[in-house]
Amino acid sequence: MSKNNNNRLPRAKGSEMAAFYTPKDCARKVKRIVFQPENRRIIEEFLTILEMKEKFVEHDVPIPNKIVMFGPPGTGKTLTAFYMAQQLDIPLVLVRLDTIIHSHLGETASNVRKIFEYAKASPCVLFLDEFDAIARTRDNNDEVKEMARVVNTLLQCLDEFECGSIFMAATNLQEELDHAVWRRFDTKMTYGMPDDVTRNEYLRLLIGDFNQEQQTLQFASSSLKGCSFADMEQIVLKAKRKAIIESTLLSAEHIQYSLEEYKPHLNTEELQIN
Ligand SMILES: Nc1ncnc2c1ncn2[C@@H]1O[C@H](COP(=O)(O)OP(=O)(O)OP(=O)(O)O)[C@@H](O)[C@H]1O
Ligand SMILES: [Mg+2]
Repeated sequence: MSKNNNNRLPRAKGSEMAAFYTPKDCARKVKRIVFQPENRRIIEEFLTILEMKEKFVEHDVPIPNKIVMFGPPGTGKTLTAFYMAQQLDIPLVLVRLDTIIHSHLGETASNVRKIFEYAKASPCVLFLDEFDAIARTRDNNDEVKEMARVVNTLLQCLDEFECGSIFMAATNLQEELDHAVWRRFDTKMTYGMPDDVTRNEYLRLLIGDFNQEQQTLQFASSSLKGCSFADMEQIVLKAKRKAIIESTLLSAEHIQYSLEEYKPHLNTEELQIN
């Protein structure tokens, strides 16, 4: 992770409000990214539009620059932000939510403003994870009226976000997002547990060239049904470690033991996209 010296990241509570990743850092993270077909299509279209900027200006059609992603943990939302930065060859600025949220909500609103000002001044992918924490629907927050101020600031920042940067936000809790905030996004993506094809593709990337017994991949693919990408990665790593310790080929048993040890939070019904 490198520092941006030209335009310093804003600070709060004594530390920087965001982590800064160069396009090169991002490239390392996304080596094995797998998209579900619909999301791949959305991202490709988004990138194509950015490549054709002039045409859109000519036709007076606004260029999209705000993406919201929702879906369960470990399905690639954060990874997509890295991918976008790498593709656009601009840095990723990953906001540290715990640093911008302050017990004085007035302070939170001011931090939100600062972070957007930074992104306006220097082209980047500005990424806000756990977005629901600051963009909660205002009706839900009667007990904390001040929260409305944070959401209003956010709305203003989104409306004024006309610059070379891209704003991306992710949440597990789509229903919790304020409607007005939701409406501000020109691009929306739903993430889910991998379908059969995507699971196979990802496992092939994970296990691919590792010395293995026949049928290992096939076994992994059927036994890891319902796992998120992140779960599959952890289980396969565990299995590889076992194979290395034993100096044997990676096998179905290694996958099975690792699955039992890891105990993934399986949810086959959760937003599986086909
Ligand atoms: N679509 C994917 N393709 C390849 N790897 C993935 C994918 N999704 C998740 N992974 C793996 O799981 C890890 C965690 O993924 P990521 O941080 O993107 O999940 P997330 O959807 O942002 O989850 P959370 O809601 O918990 O923030 C990644 O670093 C990567 O190793
Ligand atoms: Mg994430």
